[in-house]
Amino acid sequence: MENKITQTGTAKVTIGDQSYDLPIMKGSMGAPGIDVRALHKHSGHFTFDPGYTSTCSTESQITFIDGQKGQLLHRGYPIEQLADKSTFLEVAYLMIHGELPNAAQNTKFTRTITEHTMLHDQVEQFFHGFRRDSHPMAMMCGTVGALSGFYHDDTHTTVNEARDMAMHRLIAKMPTIAARCYKYSIGQPHVYPNNELSYAENFLHMCFSVPAEKYKVSKTIVDAMDKIFILHADHEQNASTSTVRLAGSSGANPYACIAAGIACLWGPSHGGANEACLNMLREIGTVDRIPEYIARAKDKQDPFRLMGFGHRVYKNFDPRSRVLQKVAHNVLEELDLDNPILEVAKELEKIALEDEYFISKKLYPNVDFYSGIVLSALGFPTSMFTVLFALARTVGWISQWNEMLEDPSQRIGRPRQLYSGAVARDYMDLSKR
Ligand code: SDX
Repeated sequence: MENKITQTGTAKVTIGDQSYDLPIMKGSMGAPGIDVRALHKHSGHFTFDPGYTSTCSTESQITFIDGQKGQLLHRGYPIEQLADKSTFLEVAYLMIHGELPNAAQNTKFTRTITEHTMLHDQVEQFFHGFRRDSHPMAMMCGTVGALSGFYHDDTHTTVNEARDMAMHRLIAKMPTIAARCYKYSIGQPHVYPNNELSYAENFLHMCFSVPAEKYKVSKTIVDAMDKIFILHADHEQNASTSTVRLAGSSGANPYACIAAGIACLWGPSHGGANEACLNMLREIGTVDRIPEYIARAKDKQDPFRLMGFGHRVYKNFDPRSRVLQKVAHNVLEELDLDNPILEVAKELEKIALEDEYFISKKLYPNVDFYSGIVLSALGFPTSMFTVLFALARTVGWISQWNEMLEDPSQRIGRPRQLYSGAVARDYMDLSKR
């Protein structure tokens, strides 16, 4: 990766009778940033920004989000166009290499991924160590981390070929691992990948086919699955991607870094929101109970939040949510499912978007609001929702991890703190306490 940010001006910071000139840096799109790397060295002061609400942790060329416009671009291409015209593997190639593949590159990349879909047979033993009722995210996190023990060659992150192999193996094996977590949790036999099938169809086949009968799935459902993967692929420096980057900045091996990302994504404020959102919609149950939950979400004494609503960056709409609403409609129509939860979701969205509280706080449905409805209609239990999110986000995580390792300015991430604990004091003997 070549650093492309340029200085466009200077910010003057005045502390007491001292002034410090800090470069203002700008990329190709989005807000400029004040480069504070030299601030502490010259002024003895840190910046303070818990939650990183105003902090750029890195330069990146993979994904751009404009929260006011509801814009999401991957290597410059709008998410709406990629979801409509591309495929998940083509988007994976785009994220890693920066350009859409030509026909030969697409064929080669697809073939490479397809050839790595199987798991080492001893990985099977890991699953039998889990309780059947273990959460699939626990199984996925443990298994992906354990892959470090199977692919030592890939852990030499300074070698391009090793990094490429690790990226290909992770993209290829995540669907197999995800399907294995599901099959193990429902007590059905593991279904091996079938390399004749496309990425999304192979995943559905590994999840829903059984040895006792032939598995058929419609093109609409396969396309919906692939679109869901595209919509979840990457989202600039979100919490789990930042976790992967921080882990990778120490030189940790890629499987351990992705396992760290999976762990972070699991939280209900992040990728776990799709599971929490569908559970919330089921708890609401009927349209007439929506006002009760809207009131709870507004009540500062009540910790309840509308899951699937709000976003750190999107202060208008989340473009992914709009695409997913259409996918939800198409899937339910294809499956001839009358899902009352979709009606509750649509009414909840309508009421919330007209409510002063949500308008004033710029709270809109995010990617997790409709994804649970679609995934449930496809036949997945809520416990699998975040597993599917992790499967898709692996492409973004490894692209960002790879970009970080290729960044000439990359250093180990090591934030500082404002310390407010006890000042220095001498040890007190037990007899005096
Ligand atoms: C994802 O970062 C990414 O890009 C993430 C993601 C990705 O693709 O990687 O987009 C995926 O994680 C989507 C977000 C999924 N999470 C949820 O749906 C959980 C519910 N939403 C929230 O908890 C919250 O909105 C966050 C975590 C998403 C954002 O939190 P912020 O930016 O820290 O905002 P905040 O918590 O400071 O909220 C601002 C105000 C607060 O009120 P005040 O303190 O100002 O009075 O809005 C309120 C909050 O109480 N608020 C909500 C709310 N979300 C925020 N009130 C009710 N319901 C909500 N959902």
